[in-house]
Amino acid sequence: MFRSIIIRSVLPLLLAAGTVAYFGLPYIDRLLTEWFRSDVELRAQLLMSSMQEVLPVFMAKNDQTGLRRYVVRIAADQRLLGLIICRPDGTALIKTERMPAAVDCPEAQQIPDGHSSVLQTPSGSAQVSVFEENPPGLAPYRVAIVHDLSFVDRRQGTARDYLIAFAGISVLILALFLALAGWLLLRGWANVLLRDISGRRFTGNAQSGRLSLPILSEVRAVLREMEESQRIEMDYRENWTPQALQQVVREQLHSPQIVVVSNREPYSHEFGEQGRIEVQVPASGMVTALEPVMRACSGTWVAHGSGSADREVVDGHDRVRVPPEDPAYTLRRVWLSEAEEQGYYYGLANEGLWPLCHLAYVRPAFRGEDWAAYQLVNRKFADVVAREASSNDPLIMIQDYHFALLPGLLRARKPDATIALFWHIPWPNDETFGVCPWKHEMLLNLLMADILGFHTLHHCRNFLATVDRFVECQIDHEHMTVALQGHVCHVMADPISIEWPPRWLPMMPDVRLSRRTVRQRFGIAEQVALGLGVERWDFTKGLIERFLALELLLEQHSRLRGRVTLLQIAAPSRSKLPAYQALQQSTVAEVARINARFATEDWKPIVLVGKHQNPQQVFELYRAADFCIVNSLHDGMNLVAKEFVSARDDDDGVLILSTFAGASRELVEALLVNPFDVAETAEAIRRALDMPREQRAQRMQLMRRTVKENNVFRWAGRLLMAAARIRQRQALLKSQDVPSLTRRRERL
Ligand code: F6P
Repeated sequence: MFRSIIIRSVLPLLLAAGTVAYFGLPYIDRLLTEWFRSDVELRAQLLMSSMQEVLPVFMAKNDQTGLRRYVVRIAADQRLLGLIICRPDGTALIKTERMPAAVDCPEAQQIPDGHSSVLQTPSGSAQVSVFEENPPGLAPYRVAIVHDLSFVDRRQGTARDYLIAFAGISVLILALFLALAGWLLLRGWANVLLRDISGRRFTGNAQSGRLSLPILSEVRAVLREMEESQRIEMDYRENWTPQALQQVVREQLHSPQIVVVSNREPYSHEFGEQGRIEVQVPASGMVTALEPVMRACSGTWVAHGSGSADREVVDGHDRVRVPPEDPAYTLRRVWLSEAEEQGYYYGLANEGLWPLCHLAYVRPAFRGEDWAAYQLVNRKFADVVAREASSNDPLIMIQDYHFALLPGLLRARKPDATIALFWHIPWPNDETFGVCPWKHEMLLNLLMADILGFHTLHHCRNFLATVDRFVECQIDHEHMTVALQGHVCHVMADPISIEWPPRWLPMMPDVRLSRRTVRQRFGIAEQVALGLGVERWDFTKGLIERFLALELLLEQHSRLRGRVTLLQIAAPSRSKLPAYQALQQSTVAEVARINARFATEDWKPIVLVGKHQNPQQVFELYRAADFCIVNSLHDGMNLVAKEFVSARDDDDGVLILSTFAGASRELVEALLVNPFDVAETAEAIRRALDMPREQRAQRMQLMRRTVKENNVFRWAGRLLMAAARIRQRQALLKSQDVPSLTRRRERL
C-alpha cells in the first residue's frame, strides 16, 4: 500500500515540480541577470563619481604619468576589466592594459552618456558603462568603464543549481511526508472499515470512533447493499421463500404493477347443494404453481370466469379479492360466450394446440372458426389486461398456449410493458409444429414477448428451431435470444415447481392416520399396498398404459394379487371433447375388464374415482400411498410428481415417473419409466412394492431436497430477475438516449 501511495503521490509531485522548474528557471535567470547588471552599473557610477574630482586635476596639469598611474590603480579591481578615457575626436587618452580588444573609443562613442551595454568578448560577457565629462576650462572627454560579467554567469549557474536542489529536496520531503500521512490516515480508515465489516455496522448512525472516514456513510451504504444482495443470493440458492420473492419484486423490479393472465382462474365460485356458493381450486398445475407466487407478490390476475357462481361474487368491475379466506391479490374475471369458449378453449387450444404439442398420438384438429374465436378472445383479454394495467410499464406474466397472440397484442397496447409468457406444455419439434396452419401468426406474436419460458432446455431448443425454420429473424443460440423487428425476445428454460413448504401440509393428519382414513374411504383393506394416480382425465397422462402395466404385473406375479390396489383419481376435464369422452369410456372399460379378471370379494386391483378432489384431499391421498405413479405419455413438467414428494415428510413412498415428463429431469431418484413400455412400467411397480424402507427413505430424501431447493418461488424468482435485468437494460438505453427498443420498433 505504501509503495502505491509513493507512486501515486511522489511522482506527480516531482512531475509538477519539474514542470514549474522548466518554465520558471529562465524567468529566475533573467531576474538574476538584471539584478547583477544593475549592481555593476551602480559600481560603475560610484567609480565614476570617485574619479570625477581627480581626473580634471590631472588633466589641468597635463600630468599624463600621474593620470595613468591613478587610472591603473583604480582598474586593479578584479572585476574591472579595464578603463578607457577618450578624447572628443575618438582617440584614446588612457587605455588600461587588460581592456578587451573589442572595446575602443569608437564603440564607447555609440553608448549614450550614463548608459551601459553588454558586449561579448572571447573571455565572456562584459558590461561597458559610459560617462561623458565636461569640466569647465578643459576639453570634454568620455570615460568607458568595462566590468567583467562572467561572474554573473557563474553566480547564475550556482544559484540555479542551489534552487533546483532546494526545490527537489523540498518536494521530496513534502511528498514523503504526504505519503506517510496518507498511509497512516488510510490505515486508520481501513481499520475503521474492517471493524465495521466484522462488526456488521452498516447502518447510517453506527458509531466508528473519532478518526472517521468522511465518506463512511456512503461506504457503509454500499456494504449494506452488498450484504443484502449476497444474502438474497444465498437465500435464493438454498431457500427460496415468498419473502425472497417479495424482496426481488421490491429491490430488483422496484415494485411494478404485476398482472398475471391465464385462461384458468385460481379460484372458481360454484353453486353447490341448495344453491350455496362454494369456492373451488381447480385441478391445474399452472394454478398450483402461480397462486402462491401471486399471494406473495400481489397484483391482478386476469382469467376466464368459468365458475357457475362467478358472476355473483364480483364487484362492478368484475373483480374479486382472493384467496377468499385471506385476500392478497385481485382476480379480474373475463366473461366468454359459449361460442367463444367453444372455439378458443375447446377448439383451437385443446383440440388443436394441446395434441399438437403433446406427442400422445392424438391428431390435432385445426378449424378456421376456432382460429377466429382464438384471435377474438386473445384480443378481448388484451383489452382487459391493458385496462387493468394502470401504469405504462407493468410486468405482465402470461400463462400458456391459450394466449399465443397476447404478447404481440399487448405490445401494441402497452409498448413499455415487460411481457413474459410461460408455455406450460411441451414445445414440439419444428416439423411437428409446422403442421399448424397459423404458425406464422403465433410465432410472430409470441416473439413480441420480452421473455418466453419453457420447462426444459429441450423445449427451448425445439422452439428456436421452429422460429429458425418459419420466421425471418436473428437468432443468437448462445444467449437464446431472437431479434425481430428491433425487439429482442429472451428464451429461457425455467422448470416450474410447487410451493415449499406446501400450504396444505400443516393441516394434514399424521401419515398412519391418513393411510387408515383413505383406505376406509375407498374400501381398501389395511394390509393392501396402495398405488396412487391423480390427474386430470387426459389422454396425455397414460392412464390406460398404467392399468395395462398393473394387469401385466398381476399376471406375472400371482403373489401380488390381493396385495396391491391402484387408486386412480381422474378429475374430469374438457369432457365436451370427443377425444376426452372416448378416453373416459375406454378408461372405465379397461378398469372394468381388469377388475373383472382379478378382483375378489374383498379386493379390487383398480379403484377409479372420476371426480375432482380438493387440494387437502389430494394431499391426504399422497400421504396414504405406498407409491405414486406418474406415467404421462408426454408432459411439460407434471407437478403431481413434485406434490407427492412434498407431502411425504415421513420420507416414505416411491415415485414412478415417466421419462417424458419434465419433472424426470430433476427427480432422478424416482423409478423412471418409458410409459409406452408396459413391461418396464410393470417391473417398476414391482420394484416399488419390494423396495426396502431404507432405500425408499434415501430416494425420498434426495427428491425432497431437490423440490425444496427448486421450489416455485425459485421459478418465479428467476423469471422476475430476468425481467428486472431487461427493464434495467432498457432504462439504461433510455438514459443514454439510445433509441429504445420500443421506439426502434415503431420506426420499423
Ligand atoms: O399443462 C398445461 C395446463 O394449462 C396446465 O397449466 C394445467 O394444469 C392444465 O393445462 C389445465 O388445463 P385446463 O385449464 O384446460 O383444465
